[in-house]
Amino acid sequence: MEYDLTELIKTALSMRKRSYTPYSHFNVGAALISKDGRIFTGCNIENAAFTPTNCAERTAFFKAVSEGVKDFEAIVIAGGAEDAKELDYCPPCGVCRQVMSEFCEDDFKIILAKSETEYVICSLADSLPDRFGPKNLLG
Ligand code: THU
Repeated sequence: MEYDLTELIKTALSMRKRSYTPYSHFNVGAALISKDGRIFTGCNIENAAFTPTNCAERTAFFKAVSEGVKDFEAIVIAGGAEDAKELDYCPPCGVCRQVMSEFCEDDFKIILAKSETEYVICSLADSLPDRFGPKNLLG
C-alpha cells in the first residue's frame, strides 16, 4: 500500500501536543494507517492512579477498532520529554506490542521517528518474536 510517510510522521509528531502527561511530562504521539489508507491518531493519556494510563499507540489502535477498522499497514511513533529539543527513538512498550499482535501481520511496520527525516522501520515480527496471538487460541 502506498502512503505518504512524511505526512504520517508529521501527524505523529504533532499529536505529542495532545498528550495528557502531568506526571511524566513524556509526550508520545502516534499515527496509525490502515490498509485502506485511513489515518488514526493517538497520544498518551495519563492518570493520577497511574495504571489506567494509555499509551499513544493503544489510543490509536482503540480508536481505529472502535470505528470498525482492523487491518493495518504501519504505525509511526514519536516520543520524548515534553521540553526535549531533539527526540530519541521511542520504542513501543510490551503491552502496545501485544495489542499490535492482536490485529497485525508479521510484516506490519513500526516506524520510530525522531523527525520528518530521521526514522527507523522494523516489523512487528522483529519487535515481538514468538508472539502469542489470535492463532494460538483460534487456530
Ligand atoms: N508511553 C507511550 O505512550 N508509548 C510508548 O511507546 C512508551 C510509553 C507513555 C506512557 C506514559 O504516559 C509515558 O509514556 C511514560 O512512560
